[in-house]
This record gives sequence, structure tokens and C-alpha cells, in this order.
Amino acid sequence: MVQWIERSPPKAKIVVRFHMGAQKIMDKQAALQKLEEEMRSDKSLQLDTNLVFGEGNLDCAVMFIGEAPGEQEDTQKRPFVGRGGQLLNKMIEKIGWKREDVYITNIVKRRPPNNRDPLPEEIEAYKPYLTKQIEIINPKIVATLGRFSMNYFNPNLKISRDHGKVFRLNASRRPTAEGVLGMNGRLLVPFFHPAAVLRNPNLLGEYEKEFKKLPKIVEKFDELLNSN
Ligand code: URA
Repeated sequence: MVQWIERSPPKAKIVVRFHMGAQKIMDKQAALQKLEEEMRSDKSLQLDTNLVFGEGNLDCAVMFIGEAPGEQEDTQKRPFVGRGGQLLNKMIEKIGWKREDVYITNIVKRRPPNNRDPLPEEIEAYKPYLTKQIEIINPKIVATLGRFSMNYFNPNLKISRDHGKVFRLNASRRPTAEGVLGMNGRLLVPFFHPAAVLRNPNLLGEYEKEFKKLPKIVEKFDELLNSN
């Protein structure tokens, strides 16, 4: 089910943080730390570069999910800190938000050699951890960056056709060994990967417009999720 959002700019600054209680934030922090430790000791996980777990606001409405760390990310152990990350930051700031208002991670949490595309078995190996990470952070909106992460959540979408649109995430289609992905009750908004926009600057205007729809999607979240 596809929902379009009107392309009008936000009238007022939308609050991204939900002012969750301090205890709840601490619980999330502890759960994420435990998850990161589990990942570190999981020898079945593919790739042996640095673990780039993710970072940001644990009380966020929007969680950005990219593909896999690149060289800069591997060195700094932080997601989206290279040129693509700078563009992502700029887009977030265009909305009037800060990078610290959102959470940022990847489907695969270690850099594939020579920045090659992640393999299906690598994506599969990291899946239980991403599932748990999303459940802990519990964002309303999963904003994917690029085709790999978009198709991770919905293999029927096409980035050239579906970027900037809003979809309902539905877990029931995608049972995993761990159970069902904890996705019901969230929206999916696919964006181009920032590296694709850097390669094709003609996309920049559209990219910016699509990012600027995010506050409205947050504002109208309940309506969008529950509309027919
Ligand atoms: N590209 C990604 O998909 N993720 C990063 O963290 C950096 C570049």
C-alpha cells in the first residue's frame, strides 16, 4: 500500500524528539550496548573489518539505514562520515534538524572489501542484529538510503520509481529464523543513496525536496499508518 504525502513545506518546526523518560533512554542504551557486544563476539558474522554499529538519538522518530560502511566509516567506526555522510548531514540540516536528532546505521555493519556491494549472505548474517536494533530504538519511520536497504525491507520496490514515497512496513511477509521482523506499525521512506546523488548532481534538487517531506510524515504519522 503506497501513501503519497503532499509536498508542502512544514509550517512550524516539527519536534523530532519524543521526550522519552531518562530511564527509558538508559534502558535502550543498555540494550544496544549488549547487542553490540553480542555482535562483537559472534564469530559467524561475515567480514573482519571494524564494527560500525550505528549512532544517534535513541528517542528518534526517524532511523536512517544505509548499506554498509565505507573506508572512512571503517576508520572512524561511525556510519556515514565520508562525503556521502556530509551530504546526508546537509539534507538533515535543510529540514531544520540536526544529525543528532536521528539515528543512523547500516544493514551490514562491517565494510565489504574494496567497497563492493554487500553479498546476500552478509545481509542475511547481520539481519537478526538489525532487527533487534530497530526493535530497541523503535523509530516510527525507517528511512532507507539506497536500493540495498530499501529492498531489504521491501524487495518489490524500485529505487528509480519509489524514492521519496511513503510505504507501510509490513512484517508478516518476512518471517525470519528469529520470528517476524518487528516492523508492523512503522513507515518506510526510501531515499537515494547519498553517493548516487554525489555521482549525479541533477538529483540534488529532488533529493532535498524529498527530505523536506520528512517533518510532515512525522507529523501525520498516525494518519498515514492507519489510512486505507
Ligand atoms: N555508505 C553506506 O551505505 N553506509 C555508510 O555508512 C557509508 C557509506
